[in-house]
Amino acid sequence: MKPNDLRAAVAGCTFDDFIFAPQFSVIERRDPATIDLSCRLSEHLTLKRPIISANMDTVTRSAMAIVQAEEGGIGIIDRGFRAGDIAAQVREVEIVKRTQHGVIQDPYTIAMDASLYDAVRTMEQSGVGTLVVVDEARKLRGLLTQRDIRFVIGRDRRDGRTVADRMTPVERLVLHVGPASLEDAERIMLERKVKKLPLIDKEGGLIGLITAKDILKQKRMPFATRDEHGRLRVGAAIGAKGDFLERAAELIRVGVDVIVIDIAHAHSVVMSRAIEQFRKQFGDAELIAGNVATAEGARFLAERGVNGIKVGIGPGGGCTTRLNTNFGVPQVHALVEAAVAVEQQGIPLIADGGVRRDGALIEALLFGGDAVMLGNAFAGTLETPGETVHKSVLLPESQKAVKVAFKVFRGMASIGAIVDRLDVEDADSLDLETLGAEGLEVSVPARGSARSILQDLVKHLCSAISYGGARSLPELKELFWKQPERYLIRLSEAGRRESYER
Ligand code: XMP
Repeated sequence: MKPNDLRAAVAGCTFDDFIFAPQFSVIERRDPATIDLSCRLSEHLTLKRPIISANMDTVTRSAMAIVQAEEGGIGIIDRGFRAGDIAAQVREVEIVKRTQHGVIQDPYTIAMDASLYDAVRTMEQSGVGTLVVVDEARKLRGLLTQRDIRFVIGRDRRDGRTVADRMTPVERLVLHVGPASLEDAERIMLERKVKKLPLIDKEGGLIGLITAKDILKQKRMPFATRDEHGRLRVGAAIGAKGDFLERAAELIRVGVDVIVIDIAHAHSVVMSRAIEQFRKQFGDAELIAGNVATAEGARFLAERGVNGIKVGIGPGGGCTTRLNTNFGVPQVHALVEAAVAVEQQGIPLIADGGVRRDGALIEALLFGGDAVMLGNAFAGTLETPGETVHKSVLLPESQKAVKVAFKVFRGMASIGAIVDRLDVEDADSLDLETLGAEGLEVSVPARGSARSILQDLVKHLCSAISYGGARSLPELKELFWKQPERYLIRLSEAGRRESYER
């Protein structure tokens, strides 16, 4: 089947219209530790797991982004903070970037003559247990750890003691002069039985800090998505108007790995202008843009020099665009169109939305997504922002009322999300109606950690690779695009019921 025939075969279709025919399996074990699930997130970034948590204010803030990156995917921090409130989003990115390190390039520092009271406060505010003591010239003078101040009064502002009184001075520290690899650092720490290794230059200036805790984390999470400094990667979404450039500047300043210009309809004059302004100000900073759902839309973004394209108009669980406007494209149709359109340029596609069962993940990947963005799948998990509320639910069998925990999940174009973003508490209802909401707000049962959901998705993906007769995700994609007819079964209504209705 040629790409054009595949386009014809999926016209008007989405995930539940297809099932794949099992192939001769060539792997012994469906083991996530050995099966290659790597993919491209954008032109210059790769993931070991093709999963992205959606930039929605009920899905991805730092807690979610950390779990995603630790498990090999990535989270995109939403921009659903109040207009002008850039700092809140920037803080979320900073939290992720400070969760894991290889070498900490800019460790928290304190002066020798600072009070112990200030040291305790800095530790509490930053959440770190070690402060590097430096002088005005940023020369290393010592280390102050939580252990050093455990039994001192430093919690009292009137306590006159200073950092110098309790720190371990530089003469008694194990140090390394010059940069060090994590392997070197581990060896030195083992030999000298220390948990912290400050790095200095020849003049004694601080150039970094390596901790045993970070080395352990790196080893324990071999699939994590990390940058060149060993920090977890994270993305952040911005709009295409208003404060978007200022927001991008701040996010890039704190080390965000990729910016996503996310608007409902990216095949637009607004997006074209936004990309142009972004490139003018930030050069080749990694940029994903979306959403589009047609070949022209995908080509339009590719021609404007984005590094990744987000595909999906209206498939999302919290989305009412198609109901309200009658515009949109069934997601499989949209993915194949976009994939064929930008194949030559090789720009990765993110399949965004509509994955309502784990099996649809492999469909999103085979039909053209390099990685898949999920919102609903993670709704209600521990790592989502927002309060858990308890509601009474009537059990049908016993007619007994039980309290069940719920969390809110809402589309980013729902009235609730818009009101929060725009700070329009005083606006009257007419103003809100004119905003034209295109999203739902629903309560979903509170669940456990997103980590177990992610791990299940990964396991199911490995099984799908086995059924598909491949050894890895890249290989399965290649096999599928070579001969889609070997895989594709278009479901009848009864076939769909038998397959997906339980
Ligand atoms: P799932 O199905 O995984 O989809 O929940 C997540 C994606 O849904 C999109 N989204 C919206 N689309 N109105 C829309 O038209 C909305 O209010 C809305 N909120 C989220 C978005 O692309 C997200 O990644």
